[in-house]
Amino acid sequence: MLIVNTIDKLEKILFEVHASEKSVGFVPTMGALHAGHISLVKQAVTDNDYTVVSVFVNPTQFNNLADLQKYPRNLEKDVALLQASGCDLVFAPSKEEIYSNEELNKHFEFDFGGLDQVMEGTFRPGHFNGVVQVVSKLFKLVKPGKAYFGEKDFQQLAIIHRMTELLNFDVEIVDCPIVREESGLAMSSRNERLTPEQRNIAVGISKVLVECRNFVPTYTPEKLKQWVKNEIYQIQGLELEYFEIVNTKTLQPAKSWNEPTVGCIAVYCGDVRLIDNIRCS
Ligand code: PAF
Repeated sequence: MLIVNTIDKLEKILFEVHASEKSVGFVPTMGALHAGHISLVKQAVTDNDYTVVSVFVNPTQFNNLADLQKYPRNLEKDVALLQASGCDLVFAPSKEEIYSNEELNKHFEFDFGGLDQVMEGTFRPGHFNGVVQVVSKLFKLVKPGKAYFGEKDFQQLAIIHRMTELLNFDVEIVDCPIVREESGLAMSSRNERLTPEQRNIAVGISKVLVECRNFVPTYTPEKLKQWVKNEIYQIQGLELEYFEIVNTKTLQPAKSWNEPTVGCIAVYCGDVRLIDNIRCS
């Protein structure tokens, strides 16, 4: 497995790979890898001749400096996990390698078609601009045939699909299911920051989400939304940021169960922000 830190070297290696007509799979990550990421990498390794994984904590998608500073980083451990999962190349650039000063200071613009006006977009202004900024850059460099993203970041995935279409990237976006701990807690790099006690409390999030499906279709989406909110309010140690039941394509609030819907939640457990989601219909 190769570890590459510069664009120059990445482009030289990938030029050869593309010239030999190997299929290239790509998994963009911010490191602090867990079983959820590894499932994406293994899928990429199965589907493609050559797998590239990027490890880059992208500063432009953090709207909160403290969150960026606290984001877990452990490249050595990540490299060991990637080596064991069959990855061919790890791209781990510096901030300066990816962005010019101008790019770091200028607001990146993208037409989200309203997908950024709800949920994460409301609570993390500018977050998705940063995501599109870095993923579009990485797609241009890696030129993958397939790119793998987890459904845990449901809204991000919808936005990546839109970006791919709008910017005409010749890449298939592969949606990969959420990987959960045995307790049901959705795998996340942020889980590393939970104390054992907080981890037990956070399990309540997936429990409530799983239970809420029992009320479909008896409750309306609005009534179910209130039910979930009340359940989360009752769990000491969790602070709800939002829970929305939305159409899986438009991300607009669901009006009935006749459309494909997903319930998306963001919750604070202490100062750790966790997200999760569940398909409802
Ligand atoms: O999902 C993530 O880890 C990040 O948002 C991504 C897609 C790697 C872009 O920085």
